[in-house]
Amino acid sequence: MKKRVFSGARPTGRQHIGNYLGAIQNYVKLQDEYDCVYCIVDIHALTTLEDTGRLQENTYEMMLDWLAAGLTPEKSILFVQSHVPEVMVLHTLLSMVTPLGWLLRVPTFKEKARMQPQNVNYGLVGYPVLMTADIVLYKADVVPVGEDQLPHLELAREIARRFNSLFGQTFPEPQSKLTTFPMVRGLNGVQKMGKSYDNYVELAATPEETRKLVMTAVTDPARQYRTDPGHPEVCNVYSLHQFFNPNRVAGIESECRAAAIGCVDCKKLLAEGINRELKELRDKRAAFAAKPKYVAEVLADGAKRAQAIAKVTLAEVEEKMGLIAPKR
Ligand code: TRP
Repeated sequence: MKKRVFSGARPTGRQHIGNYLGAIQNYVKLQDEYDCVYCIVDIHALTTLEDTGRLQENTYEMMLDWLAAGLTPEKSILFVQSHVPEVMVLHTLLSMVTPLGWLLRVPTFKEKARMQPQNVNYGLVGYPVLMTADIVLYKADVVPVGEDQLPHLELAREIARRFNSLFGQTFPEPQSKLTTFPMVRGLNGVQKMGKSYDNYVELAATPEETRKLVMTAVTDPARQYRTDPGHPEVCNVYSLHQFFNPNRVAGIESECRAAAIGCVDCKKLLAEGINRELKELRDKRAAFAAKPKYVAEVLADGAKRAQAIAKVTLAEVEEKMGLIAPKR
């Protein structure tokens, strides 16, 4: 039997090339090797109340990017977290075997509590318990995540282990699988590419928008004049060429070092590369966007398939914890 992969992502709306290189591409590849379950975690999004007015729109836009990139209901289960409410029941049950001290030590909790002191809600403390419930509800073996999620995964293993030791072997201990891509920096070359930094290129951007954005990108700050030799190793534009102009990257590197190519031309090449590599994805996205009914059907079908698995696990958990499991 194939091992199961589970991963979740918060509904952040239209995805950018950082999301694509860092996560989505990897999700797509894993579909051929594993039994994959991919979830848009809208309940987790409620812990920060950032964009809740746009939750539906953001979920839909993100799903369009997932489908356009090649995630497909023919290979994977694709669904929205709140459509399978069993996860909230499991969250409550797992909260009984999770010492509060474990949760208060989690670095992301401490950071969020610092960032939103006016809203240190109960759900925020339970965030990793809900994430554990996501994973173990489907008895997932492997969880592809970025490095920032490793403490959460560690906690998920501890909770699974504790449940197993208290109530008998039930859950596999989920292993993290780091994506192999290095961090994708934003156009300003400082932070990672992210929604909150306004330094990103959306997958759905038009070729013209892409070109305009890429032309604003910061290059090697030491290269002030066209005749100055460049340092590709510190240049963010260069690092993006590795993904979008893989065949030309070696030439670009030597031309930059020899000042044979200037930053403006280098950025034009990058924009062309992005537009070429994403053409198919963008065409597919437009086709899916024209079929909102189809997208809704994919999500409804995904929820049904996910729920069938969830019900079995939840009944097993209730039984083991000594509850009289209702007929569901
Ligand atoms: N916490 C993850 C993030 O912010 C999202 C997430 C929720 C998740 N549940 C998950 C990731 C389960 C992997 C598995 O990126």
